[in-house]
Amino acid sequence: MTDLMKMIHEAQKALKKSYSPYSNFPVGACIRSVDDQLFAACNIENASYSLAICAEAAAIACMIVAGQHRIKEVVVIGTGTELCSPCGACRQRLREFAAPDVLVHICDLNGVRKTMTMEDLLPVSFGPHNLEKKHDPISD
Ligand code: THU
Repeated sequence: MTDLMKMIHEAQKALKKSYSPYSNFPVGACIRSVDDQLFAACNIENASYSLAICAEAAAIACMIVAGQHRIKEVVVIGTGTELCSPCGACRQRLREFAAPDVLVHICDLNGVRKTMTMEDLLPVSFGPHNLEKKHDPISD
């Protein structure tokens, strides 16, 4: 199994655990950190709709808890006929920890439908560099 296939497999497993009774739109995500650990998660909805947590946000949380701050590759899986590309908020969340050349694979249950770079998804982005901070996860 290739590295990418393993990520897709983990994202599919996470998608199957999605808690999305309100939208019926399960999403799975898998993040590979630069040290080659995989962090998979699903979307988690709430009766108070606006509290829904996207799969990418949940996967980032898992990565941070493990002490990793740098993303190497991302897989996002949805089941609809349209491409399940990361929402605007998640593009910004990913960008915090992903360099412009990081690949984001937009998938369905059959595999990759489109691969884009972080820069494709969020060009001319606002990020840690704008804040003149000493700490920048993607260049430290
Ligand atoms: N969703 C994600 O998990 N990731 C995205 O990037 C797009 C949207 C979820 C949120 C909500 O639970 C469902 O998809 C429908 O919007």
